[in-house]
Formats: sequence, structure tokens, C-alpha cells
Amino acid sequence: MIILNRCSPIRQILRRCHTEAAACSKVRSPLTAFFGKWPESEQQEFVQHMRIIPDFITESEEQQLHEEVEPYMNRLRYEFDHWDDAIHGFRETERKKWYPHNRDVLERVRQVAFEGAIMPYIHVLDLAADGVIKPHVDSTRYCGTTISGISLLSDSVMRLVRTDAQKYQQPVTGTVTDAKSADSDAVYGHRRFPEALLENGFYADLLLPRRSLYIMCHTARYNFTHEILSKEHSTFLGTAIPKARRISIICRNDP
Ligand code: OGA
Ligand code: MN
Repeated sequence: MIILNRCSPIRQILRRCHTEAAACSKVRSPLTAFFGKWPESEQQEFVQHMRIIPDFITESEEQQLHEEVEPYMNRLRYEFDHWDDAIHGFRETERKKWYPHNRDVLERVRQVAFEGAIMPYIHVLDLAADGVIKPHVDSTRYCGTTISGISLLSDSVMRLVRTDAQKYQQPVTGTVTDAKSADSDAVYGHRRFPEALLENGFYADLLLPRRSLYIMCHTARYNFTHEILSKEHSTFLGTAIPKARRISIICRNDP
């Protein structure tokens, strides 16, 4: 088991950001790094709709969640074959019935992240150390306004890239369709962005510490692709963020 000591890069980033937050009320979020030319109003909206709560669960809650899903995950094989798919090097399941202590944690997620009910089946995604989640937008047919995930076992970096940045920027090469269209999965489910869009558009990197909760809703959920960077690209503001095997417990609401 990897234990974060007080000198680990993440602790240093968190400490640095806490100091900055204390010194400057304009710091938006210590775990978010913005790139490109963000329209001011977009950025304000974004910070409200993409939040990260560090240490949302304790070490023992992490262990209990892990213990509940591990026997099941262990029986599945990591899928590496389909290079076209949005996710590579993963195994997954959906779980409805949870042990009471874990049910309590999920109820806390519901209270913090959702205005109403969540879907009864909770998504459990086990991403291998060398697995990757490529840029995509969750299907608007199967998922509502909000996606909220707890990260177990590893830190990681999530990148959110604006999907129709050309509205605000110079025209770029590559076809981009409104992510809210019914075919958003077909458009984004398995495609990387043309480099030009990343360079000319705007995006944000989010540091997701182990045991944190992220809440992605509204503009962050519909107008940005999200991805988990591969271990080779896993850096945050120039600091390497080692990505090991990561299990995410993801709650969503109905469309
Ligand atoms: C997904 C996804 C993010 C995560 O399964 O669609 O984006 O936190 N997962 O694992
Ligand atoms: Mn997703």
C-alpha cells in the first residue's frame, strides 16, 4: 500500500495551495489548473460545476469500500483489447446493494453532490496502472446533470477540455459538434481531440487525490470532455503524479 507522507508531491501541492488560498481570496480551486484563454464568465461557472473535495473519505472508509468490491473485481479481466473504446485497461461493474457502512458513504455523496435521488446502480470502475480513460462525454441518454466519483487507491489527473471552444477562439481544424446532441457518444466516445483544439482552446487539469470526491455537473459535464491521463502523462502543474491502479465509485443521476 502506498502511504502519502507529509513530503509527497500531492501534500506539497495541497499545502502550497492552502497557503495561497489564505493569502489570496482570488485563488479559485487549489486542485484546478487552467490552460488557454478562458472567458471570465465560463471560468466562474466552471469552478462551481467542477468541484473536488479532498479527503472526502477516511482511510478506513477507503479500505471498507475496497474490501467490498475487490472480491468481485478480482474475478474480472482487465480489458485492453479495444483501442477504439473510451476506456483502456479497465474492468467494471454496477452495484446496487452495499454493506451498511458503505451505503452510509454513498448517502453522503448523494447529500453533498446531488439535489435529489441518484441512480440505484453505482458504477465501480477499476482502472489498471497502465489504463487510461480517453476524452469523452457521458451519454446524455443514460446520465443526467451530475457525475460524482470517489477515487480509491491512487491519485490521478483528470483533464476537462471545452468541446466547442471555436465559439470563442480562432477556427481550428477538426470537426466538433455540440456535446449535447443525441449523438455525443458517437462523436466523443472514442476520439482524441485534434492537437490544434487543445492548443487553441481552453481546458483545465484537475488533481484528484486518492480518497477525494469530485462533483462534475452542468457546464463541466455537458460542455467539456473528461479523461484520466495515462501514467506517462500524469502531471499536475509540472509535478509528476504517480498513477497506480485506481478504483472509482461513481454516482450519477437520471437524465
Ligand atoms: C466514466 C468516467 C471517471 C472516473 O466511467 O465514464 O469518466 O472517475 N469515469 O473513473
Ligand atoms: Mn465519463
